[in-house]
Amino acid sequence: MHTIVVTGGCGYIGSHTALALLEKGYEVLSIDVLEHNQTQVEADICTLSGKAFQNTRINLCNLRALRRFFAERKNIAGIIHFAAHKLVPESMQRPLRYYGNNLLSLINVLVCAREHNIKAFIYSSSSAVYGNVNSLPVTEETPCFEQQSVYGRTKYFGEHIVRDAVPIASLRAVILRYFNPAGAHESGLLGEYDQGPPQNLVPALTAAAAGIIPELVVFGKDYPTPDGTCIRDYVHVMDIAEAHVKALEYVLNQGDGPSVEVVNLGSGTGYSVLQMIEAFENTTGLKVPYRIGPRRSGDAVAVYADHSKATRLLGWQPRRPLSEIMLSAWRRRQLLVERAVSKSAG
Ligand code: WQD
Repeated sequence: MHTIVVTGGCGYIGSHTALALLEKGYEVLSIDVLEHNQTQVEADICTLSGKAFQNTRINLCNLRALRRFFAERKNIAGIIHFAAHKLVPESMQRPLRYYGNNLLSLINVLVCAREHNIKAFIYSSSSAVYGNVNSLPVTEETPCFEQQSVYGRTKYFGEHIVRDAVPIASLRAVILRYFNPAGAHESGLLGEYDQGPPQNLVPALTAAAAGIIPELVVFGKDYPTPDGTCIRDYVHVMDIAEAHVKALEYVLNQGDGPSVEVVNLGSGTGYSVLQMIEAFENTTGLKVPYRIGPRRSGDAVAVYADHSKATRLLGWQPRRPLSEIMLSAWRRRQLLVERAVSKSAG
């Protein structure tokens, strides 16, 4: 079976995708600098897959080190490029860090793909490229007028870099625009990690329910939405992982000749922040302490997907309901708490 390089293979979506690839019989070579010190992920993926899983700790902005990695490994059939900084608020405070890391790492990976004649390329993009849209649900033809965050712009520019590289590297590329990945592997062994205060909604919500933070702060209740809070399309991270396997099989089974497709990965349903709190409480029976705070810079008002192209082109459908996102996220939170307690107990 094919050997696939997964950059960011120890990250949130990357680790779930690496597991899905291993379970389908692929050999997976991960490149991850482990910036969140997620050293446990390698062992967890080996445990869950029963397969060998190896991560190489390289900063993708170091082209010399990356070239050495590819020179030492032959017969790589494809690359899935996840590695990037991904926090909207942080991107607004540290724009040059985000442009430098997210774009240079992508360029270096594309340089190596071309030098080693690797044609199958999957790029991790984001619904953040759409910004505030005029019509919903969002299709792949919806114009990407003005991204609301630096993070969204790094993904928008990244897509153009991939497109421009396709003809000169003869790539067969799929650009996957994730809406809001959430939840965790059913074991809880993979999921969001807890380095630092939780930034995304679902981990912040479970942290508040677990008492790790005093309360969830809802960033604004004065948006032009039914309950005044922002609307997003939350999709189970395991569904996202399965979409990557299908996208990879799509490009591996295509004929020769350069090509690029953009595909939305979302559930197709939008939920507001308050609806997410309600869904968590109804699913788990737990209360989420929260308060309404000011808006967060970089937030779009409402965005959710039309995923019919993913179904038509890749044969992909999101399978896991919102309740499974909440249950798996809560199971992940409980495992993180248990690990923190056992670590402090020495
Ligand atoms: C969702 C909503 C917040 C935290 C991110 C990034 C990127 C992308 C998708 C892959 C917003 C509100 C959040 C909190 C809150 N991933 N919120 N209180 O910013 O939509 O997108 O995930 O591409 O990582 O673009 O996700 O979970 O941060 O926010 O009220 O403590 O929840 O304002 O409306 P976002 P998010």
